Amino acid sequence: MVATVTETQNITFLRLTRADHDLVRHIAVAPEQIVYCGTVDMAFASDEAGIDLYAIRQGATCVGFFKIDLKYPQTHAFARAGDLGVRALMIDHQHQGKGLGTAALRALPAALAGCYRDAKAVVLTVNLRNQIAVRSYLNAGFHDTGELFEGGLAGPQHVMRCNLPAPDDAAPHRADLIATGPHADAS
Ligand SMILES: CC(C)(COP(=O)(O)OP(=O)(O)OC[C@H]1O[C@@H](n2cnc3c(N)ncnc32)[C@H](O)[C@@H]1OP(=O)(O)O)[C@@H](O)C(=O)NCCC(=O)NCCS
Repeated sequence: MVATVTETQNITFLRLTRADHDLVRHIAVAPEQIVYCGTVDMAFASDEAGIDLYAIRQGATCVGFFKIDLKYPQTHAFARAGDLGVRALMIDHQHQGKGLGTAALRALPAALAGCYRDAKAVVLTVNLRNQIAVRSYLNAGFHDTGELFEGGLAGPQHVMRCNLPAPDDAAPHRADLIATGPHADAS
């Protein structure tokens, strides 16, 4: 089934380099939400290896941000080989509550499958108190593995997982949902 634009909210993703900070500098969550996702500035200030940065776009507007952590299986005991970690996922506070988070999460597995050819699943943790995010993940097709992750500063977190579509699945890979930022070719 092909999703309609209404269902997808015209969501695409933009792969960012460290030189693309200005494209997403405006994206911010409410102060009390920072404990769940950090800030865009924190993500750009970090020199952590194995992290890919992305903007979530609605049309041409950058409305959200997340990181893909390529070393999740090495750093989290619950993760398996082939898992991509999703971290710091946020929708700008002015755009929250309009279905964009859920739409982005629905689009994400097929988009990632088209770009990370060896990846098998996306995995993340979400704080037990962060019920809006929990609902968003479950509505988007992630499932709660039942494990509790005790790391982090804000208390216990659910572990959520969503398999990426395999090449022979009916769901097509959607590498076309991911564009590259203006500095992609910068050395
Ligand atoms: C979590 C987040 C990404 C969800 O994105 P969003 O676009 O705001 O969420 P959606 O509009 O798709 O709504 C998801 C669900 O939460 C509900 N919801 C959204 N905002 C809400 C609010 N302010 N109060 C109550 N429920 C709310 C929606 O009704 C929906 O549930 P439903 O489909 O069962 O009705 C976004 O709220 C966010 O960036 N939060 C701060 C950072 C964060 O917590 N990141 C997650 C880290 S694990």
